[in-house]
Amino acid sequence: MSEQENAVQHPDRNLALELVRATEAAAIRAFPFIGKGDKNAADKAAVDAMRAFLGTVDFEGLVVIGEGEKDDAPMLFNGELVGSGSGPKCDIAVDPIDGTSLTAAGRQNALSVIAVSDRGTMLDASQIFYMNKLVTGPEGVDVCDIRKPIGENIRALAKAKNKPISELVVAVLDRPRHDDLIREIRESGAGTRLLLDGDVAASIHAASSGSRIDICVGIGGSPEGVATACAISALGGLIQGVLMPRDEQEAQRGVDSGLKMDYVYEAKEIVQSENTFFIATGLTDGGLLEGVRRKGSVIRTESIVIRGRSGTIRRIVAEHQSSRWI
Ligand code: FBP
Repeated sequence: MSEQENAVQHPDRNLALELVRATEAAAIRAFPFIGKGDKNAADKAAVDAMRAFLGTVDFEGLVVIGEGEKDDAPMLFNGELVGSGSGPKCDIAVDPIDGTSLTAAGRQNALSVIAVSDRGTMLDASQIFYMNKLVTGPEGVDVCDIRKPIGENIRALAKAKNKPISELVVAVLDRPRHDDLIREIRESGAGTRLLLDGDVAASIHAASSGSRIDICVGIGGSPEGVATACAISALGGLIQGVLMPRDEQEAQRGVDSGLKMDYVYEAKEIVQSENTFFIATGLTDGGLLEGVRRKGSVIRTESIVIRGRSGTIRRIVAEHQSSRWI
C-alpha cells in the first residue's frame, strides 16, 4: 500500500456502532407517527433526527444517494456533507425511513437505514429513480442471473437450495408494473411474498441464509438497491441491478452523469469496496427487525449492523430512557 493510501482513513468498526445511534434516533422520532396517516411528517421527524445525530459522529460522510425526490418528501440531499467533518471520509446512502407509507398506515416492515463505504466507491445512481433488482442468498451466486427469465432462475435456485419449487418464496413489490412478473413466478410453481412497500427489508432477508424469503426481484428504488449492496458481501449473497429510467429525459440525465443504461450492475460495481457497513433499525415490526416499543420509562429499539470486511452481523437491542426523548 502506498504512503498516500496508508494516510487515508477508512471507516472502521467503531463508526458503524456510532452510526447506529442515527438510525435508532430516526426510528424513535418517527415512532409517534406510526399509523397516523401522515407519511411526510413521519419522514421529516426521521430525517431531522438522523441529520442531527450524524452531526455528532466523527466522520465526513458525503450523501451519495439520499431519498425523497420522488414525492418532494423531506430528505437528506444528495451531495450534502454530514458528520463532524473530522475522521474518515465516506460515501453514505441514507433512507431515514424505508416504508414511509407503511409507517403512516401502521403496517409492518418499515426501517431506518444507513449504508456506508469508502469515499468514492458508491455508485451515484441518484439520477435514475428506479432499479430492477435481483437479490438472493449465497446459494444463488453463479446460479441466478437477472438476464434470465424468472422461471429459469427459480428452477435453478430451487435446485441449488435442494428445495421443492413449490416451497420457494419470491418477494416482489405489489405494483401493476409487476403483473407479468408475478404471473410468471406463480406459473413456475413458486409462491410470492407481495410487498406493499419496503424492498430493503425483503432484500436483506432474501440475501440472508435461513430466511423464509428465497429471492427478491423486480423494480424498486435505486437508493434501496445501493444500500442493500453494502450488506451483500457480508451476507455472501447476490445483488444485480439494472437502472430503469422512467422516460428519455431521465435516461439522458443518467447517461450524462456517467451511468450505464441497459446494463447489469453487479454488487462490486454498485459498491466498489469491501469496506462497507449496512445499518438498520426497525421502526414497525417486521420479519427482519422488531419495531420501536415503548414500555413505561423505556424505549426499546432493535438494529442490525452488517460489516462487509469482516462479514460480522450484529443485532443490537437498545433500551433508551424515554425521559431523554421528550
Ligand atoms: P419510501 O418509503 O422511501 O418512499 O420507499 C418505499 C419503497 O417501497 C421502497 O422500498 C421501494 O424501493 C420503492 O418505494 C418503490 O417505489 P414505488 O412505490 O414508486 O414503486
